[in-house]
Amino acid sequence: MADPWWKSAVLYQIYPRSFADSSGDGVGDLPGISVRLPHLVELGVDALWLSPVYPSPMADFGYDVSDFVAIDPQFGTLSDFDALVHEAHARGLKVLIDLVANHTSERHPWFIESRSSRRNEKRDWYIWRAPGPGGGPPNNWLSEFGGPAWQFDATTGQFYYHAFLAAQPDLNWRNENVRAAMHAVMRFWLRRGVDGFRVDAIWHLLKDAQFRDDPQNPDYSPDDRPHRRVVARYSSDQPDVHEVIRGLRGVIDEFPERLLIGETYLPVERLVSYYGRELSGLHMPFNFGLLQTPWRAREIARLIDRYEAALPNGAWPNWVLGNHDRPRVASRVGPRQARIAAMLLLTLRGTPTLYYGDEIGMPQMAIAPECLQDPFEKNVPGLGFGRDGCRTPMQWDASPNAGFSCAPPWLPLADDYASHNVACQRGDAASLYNLYRRLIAVRRTHPAIAIGSYQPVETDGNILAFLREHGRERIFVALNFGDESATAALPPGEQGTVLVSAMAGRDGETVRGSVGMGGHDGLVLALL
Ligand code: GLC
Repeated sequence: MADPWWKSAVLYQIYPRSFADSSGDGVGDLPGISVRLPHLVELGVDALWLSPVYPSPMADFGYDVSDFVAIDPQFGTLSDFDALVHEAHARGLKVLIDLVANHTSERHPWFIESRSSRRNEKRDWYIWRAPGPGGGPPNNWLSEFGGPAWQFDATTGQFYYHAFLAAQPDLNWRNENVRAAMHAVMRFWLRRGVDGFRVDAIWHLLKDAQFRDDPQNPDYSPDDRPHRRVVARYSSDQPDVHEVIRGLRGVIDEFPERLLIGETYLPVERLVSYYGRELSGLHMPFNFGLLQTPWRAREIARLIDRYEAALPNGAWPNWVLGNHDRPRVASRVGPRQARIAAMLLLTLRGTPTLYYGDEIGMPQMAIAPECLQDPFEKNVPGLGFGRDGCRTPMQWDASPNAGFSCAPPWLPLADDYASHNVACQRGDAASLYNLYRRLIAVRRTHPAIAIGSYQPVETDGNILAFLREHGRERIFVALNFGDESATAALPPGEQGTVLVSAMAGRDGETVRGSVGMGGHDGLVLALL
């Protein structure tokens, strides 16, 4: 059987509020994305994933859904959505959407019913508990966004559970009707032609049926994420979640060639369990290792080894460098290492996911207090967890508002957008954008990179090196994480030609035995 399309694909995440605004209200929308599809084709990616575009009060900018089978007017209409899917498919691009399965908005009709009375038919669709002793929360579970995960509701005198904002009550996935309703939501979009889902917060779907207290975390420090005060042993990542995920996968498998990805912020040894027994779960649980590991060659090498070792038989890996929740890679590792990061992401074994704007090295923006939007930052100010800085508008060109909108955008633009944008970088052969394009093109023409095996090559210091192999094709990758020159040894007796280099001017060079590399240089070699 042929490999599924997503194994060799490059995925591209779009945060719709910030990609392209066609309506002139300063917020991006679906017709805006349609207009910009040629950019994705030029970059060379295979699929786009849209963060939520469902109707939402926007307490968490779309991750609080009040209707799962419609489009928020701010983003357009269902026919705009259909048009986007149609145009994307016509250009050979797949379309993935976010499925916010763990919770709804407090304004979703299901929750409005559920909170109306203890006897309501939808009461059990959410997680309601009597107050704990003394009238406080039922247990010590904490919200990812700070504070207790329980909200008291005076109408019925009980608490409801919310893993995120109080405005995002968690659904009760132990209830069969909830499962059936969400399966129906999936079929609604699959029939409209979407190619799959990225399931939000999937490791949260089930919580301990006995509601036991989470243990205190002895390693907690005050600059940690606030919910790390406890170890989430009972409030998330429960063993029975895999049966729920198998149900989601069953729906996916009713349709040909669809893809199921899930958001899994877990150590690699845990997240691989989300492939499910005999791979009956997610096709790909997102691997966020690169977002969480210090940017040093030895630490990244250890991460890759751990991940490769943890993968179940036949499970296909994946790698992520950025998303709408974490600081921008270009600021995290610096502009020169951003080139090495691009080379790593696009040459490792596994499906890469790119975050919009990272292809031009968009920076993490410092957001002035009066411009803050993110509810997480507002809940726990000043700890550096704010997500606005990685959600600023796409920098298309030097025109007013960076070609994003004709109106002032909902979040400020980077100060240097006039010189730091897609249009400038397109015309500069040495730009990060053109490096991304070359890497994606080389991936496409070299099965060893796209689907080949992975083998670490022993190195020390700041060099990370590995081999990729498919049939007779062998690719050697060497990346210098440091700012000093270093030498990378090719496997004994080998020679190769440079396919892509991080620094200009080395393409086509032939190297034998070992290769000298400047600081921040990276090489992709075809071994002869
Ligand atoms: C996921 C999303 C994040 C959102 C949260 C709650 O982590 O990526 O943006 O705030 O879920 O839905």
